[in-house]
Amino acid sequence: MNVDLVVVGSGFFGLTIAEKAATELDLKVAVLDRRRHIGGNAYSENEKQTGIEVHRYGAHLFHTSNERVWDYVNRFTEFTSYQHKVYTSHRGEVYPMPINLGTINQFFRSSMGPAEARALIQEQAGELAGTNPENLNDKGIQLIGRPLYEAFIKYYTGKQWQTDPKNLPAEIISRLPVRYTYDNRYFNDKYEGLPVDGYTAWIERMADHPNITVELNTDFFDDGHPYSRNTTLGQVPVVYTGPVDRYFDYVEGDLSWRTIDLEEEVLPVEDFQGCSVMNYPDEDVPYTRIHEFRHFHPERNYTKDATVIMREFSRFAEKGDEPYYPVNTEEDRTKLVAYRDLAKGEDMVLFGGRLGTYKYLDMHMAIGSALSMFDNKIKPYFDNGTRLE
Ligand code: FAD
Ligand code: NA
Repeated sequence: MNVDLVVVGSGFFGLTIAEKAATELDLKVAVLDRRRHIGGNAYSENEKQTGIEVHRYGAHLFHTSNERVWDYVNRFTEFTSYQHKVYTSHRGEVYPMPINLGTINQFFRSSMGPAEARALIQEQAGELAGTNPENLNDKGIQLIGRPLYEAFIKYYTGKQWQTDPKNLPAEIISRLPVRYTYDNRYFNDKYEGLPVDGYTAWIERMADHPNITVELNTDFFDDGHPYSRNTTLGQVPVVYTGPVDRYFDYVEGDLSWRTIDLEEEVLPVEDFQGCSVMNYPDEDVPYTRIHEFRHFHPERNYTKDATVIMREFSRFAEKGDEPYYPVNTEEDRTKLVAYRDLAKGEDMVLFGGRLGTYKYLDMHMAIGSALSMFDNKIKPYFDNGTRLE
């Protein structure tokens, strides 16, 4: 083996491991990705006709309150001062999201202050007070009352899951944030912004080290390349960030995922919707939201002749679809426990990232968890020969 470490997957998890191993331990690292590009789901590229940066796997907003992660990512990119805000289009009227005093007063045609609004929502939520809802529909009503729930949450969630909320488990939502101020910033984190020269430039800088080689269009499970499962296992440590069920040939069954379909369209107008994300919470609209990418970078000099939008549709993933969000049913959790045991027993292989742990991870969480794996497992193994498991 001409490398010291093989990393399967070039998303933020895999690249953080590779970058730390190369710069801090001077290891030679091969990073494989079966896709044609680096960066996993955070990959972006400029749409050809307009030059507008689009996020190929859905809009990606960077935000974190973790100082260590913030310091780390700033070694590879600067961030703009972008602050994410979302609006929602319900029955021909646009409201600010998440539900806040502005949404409430517009919806009820009122001018309530915070205390009054809070009392009203509490009264409406009282419809199911003291009950223990088993389905998401009842839970939603109990949390914010029927009127707001049915307008903004019910069908939106139903579309996300392609399931009537009456048939979804209540545990999918533990809380529905309602703000009794006019603050409609989407994220509450200390740091927020978008990479000044785009996600792909950031990601490429993480991989830009003489000790790191990136092999694209290369699947760990295919033979015929030097870093396949059959050639590497037992030879060098592997950090695997692909789907954990795939690694074990689905012996415990398939874990279930939701996926999204994105329909891209270039429109001959400067501005289509006036904001980056518009939700569509009504039942008669098939998509959940529309992204308009120019608004992620108001500081850029984009063309005024055209704009790029993506309509987002949500559905259950089938084999061959990109797995995006864990469904996480009771059955999935049982399988996951079994897969975790198998993973633990797999010597010299560490499982990480979104797919390797079957967990939704934001970018800062994927990076933070990779930094911990590096500190707690990879560095001790190479420094002191500690067992890798
Ligand atoms: P991934 O990015 O999925 O990378 C895994 C890589 O492994 C992939 O490139 C895959 O091709 C490769 N791979 C898998 N199997 C194999 C194999 N057998 N051989 C070779 N390569 C393989 N985070 C935020 O912070 N903000 C957001 O707004 C945000 N929006 C998101 C929207 C969507 C629709 C999704 C799905 C995620 C979003 N995220 C967001 C999360 C963000 O994408 C993840 O944090 C990040 O992708 C996690 O990185 P990862 O390295 O674990 O996984
Ligand atoms: Na292991």
